[in-house]
Amino acid sequence: MNKPFCDWFSRPPVRRYDGIYYYDSDRDADCFDESDVDIWRSGRMKRNFHSDFFLNNPASRRLVDAIIAQGDPVVEIACGPGMGLMPSVKQLVPDHVCLATDANSLVIEEWKRYLDGNETIKNLDLAQFSLMDIPFRDNTVPAYSGYIGLSSTRNGEEGHERALREIHRTLTGNGFFYTIETWMDTEAMLRVFRESGMTPWSGLESDHPTPTWRERFLQVGFEIVSEDVFESRTLTADDNELGEAAEQLGIGISVISKAYILQKN
Ligand SMILES: C[S@@+](CC[C@H](N)C(=O)[O-])C[C@H]1O[C@@H](n2cnc3c(N)ncnc32)[C@H](O)[C@@H]1O
Repeated sequence: MNKPFCDWFSRPPVRRYDGIYYYDSDRDADCFDESDVDIWRSGRMKRNFHSDFFLNNPASRRLVDAIIAQGDPVVEIACGPGMGLMPSVKQLVPDHVCLATDANSLVIEEWKRYLDGNETIKNLDLAQFSLMDIPFRDNTVPAYSGYIGLSSTRNGEEGHERALREIHRTLTGNGFFYTIETWMDTEAMLRVFRESGMTPWSGLESDHPTPTWRERFLQVGFEIVSEDVFESRTLTADDNELGEAAEQLGIGISVISKAYILQKN
C-alpha cells in the first residue's frame, strides 16, 4: 500500500499480501466464486479496464471530469469486476492516484493479478474492506467515487445508511463523493410480487416507501452539487425473475440511475 493511502487507516489490516490490505469483510460482499473468476479471466477485466462506457455518457463523463479537475487521490467503493469510474479516470490521466476497494477478496485479488500481468499503469492501489465499517480515520479522504456501490450493499435501508455515514465520516471537510446510484419503483415492484405470488425481497415494506438517493444523501448531511440522469429504463426479463413476472403482468417497473456529485458539509 502506497502513500497517501497507508497513512489514512485507523487500524492495521487483518492480513497484508502483495501490497494489499485485507480487512476480512467477505461476509458483507457479493458471493463470487471460481465460476466468476473464470468469466473474469476470459477477457472481462481487460474489456472493463479499457471500456469507454462512462466516457461516452454525459452524466458519468461529468463525474470523471470533476474527479480529474479536483486532482486529489480518490477511493473507489465496491469496485467489483468493473472497477467503477477508475478505468475512465486512468484512461484520461494515467498517473491519477487511485485506490480501488471492495468487500470481496476474490475480485480484489483478480484485479491485482490482471493489472500485474497486463498493464503498466502506476498509482492504482487495492484494498479489501466493507463500506459498513471503513477502516479510515475521520476526515481523511478527499474524494470517493462509485458505480452502484451503495445500491449493492446488503441489510436494506439500514445498510445504505451505515455505508453512507461511513463515507461521510471519513471524507475531509468539503470532500467530494462522485457516485452513480440506482433507484427502482418499489410500489410497482410490490404490485408485481403481490399479483405474481412471488415472495417480496427482504426490506421491501409497503408502509415505508423507499427513500430516493437524494433523500438519503441529504439525510446524512451531504450537499447535492449536481444530479443528472445516467440511465432510465424498465426492468425486463433479462434482468431477473421479477422483470420476467413484470413483463408477463404488463406492469412497468422503472429503474432510474442518476449520477451525483456530493459534497460533505
Ligand atoms: C454490482 S457490483 C457494483 C458494480 C461495480 N462498481 C462495477 O463497476 O463493476 C457490486 C459490488 O459491491 C460489492 N459490495 C457489496 N456490499 C459491499 C460492502 N458492504 N462493502 C464493499 N463492497 C461491497 C460486492 O462485493 C460487488 O463487488
